[in-house]
Amino acid sequence: MEGFFYQHPGKDEKPNVMTIGWGLVGILRYKPTFAVAVRPTSYTYKLLKESNEFTVNVPNRGMEKIIEYCGNVSGRDHDKFREMDLTPLPRQRVKSPMVSECIIHYECNVIYKTKFEISRLPKEIVSKYYP
Ligand SMILES: Cc1cc2nc3c(=O)[nH]c(=O)nc-3n(C[C@H](O)[C@H](O)[C@H](O)COP(=O)(O)O)c2cc1C
Repeated sequence: MEGFFYQHPGKDEKPNVMTIGWGLVGILRYKPTFAVAVRPTSYTYKLLKESNEFTVNVPNRGMEKIIEYCGNVSGRDHDKFREMDLTPLPRQRVKSPMVSECIIHYECNVIYKTKFEISRLPKEIVSKYYP
């Protein structure tokens, strides 16, 4: 898996999308759960705090350039949906639109948040990905 898309509307309803490389799918006492790690500096973090919901969209082959772009520019000063010609897919359970070009879509409500301590990961991972 190279990366996921992840986006949701803020109060202004303009959808945003960012690439995530961290994603854990599992079960929390019968409840299907998707754990994501979101940097507090990202625009996504701000939108997530406002909306408390998100979608995770698994990209198709051939979307590598879009993954790279959405992981390197911010929705604060870019409309990544428009710039990357992505199509919002009508939502069902949450307000956040999904990315119709993706092949799997998860609709999520936030049920738990915690601070993630990068420094507690193995040293070789920290030096390789978070120098
Ligand atoms: C391959 C790849 C994986 C990434 N994974 C994550 C991640 O898991 N969590 C995260 O917070 N940022 C991750 N990023 C960085 C964000 O996508 C990047 O900071 C993005 O510009 C934030 O956009 P936003 O300001 O519109 O939210 C990743 C970037 C790339 C290129």
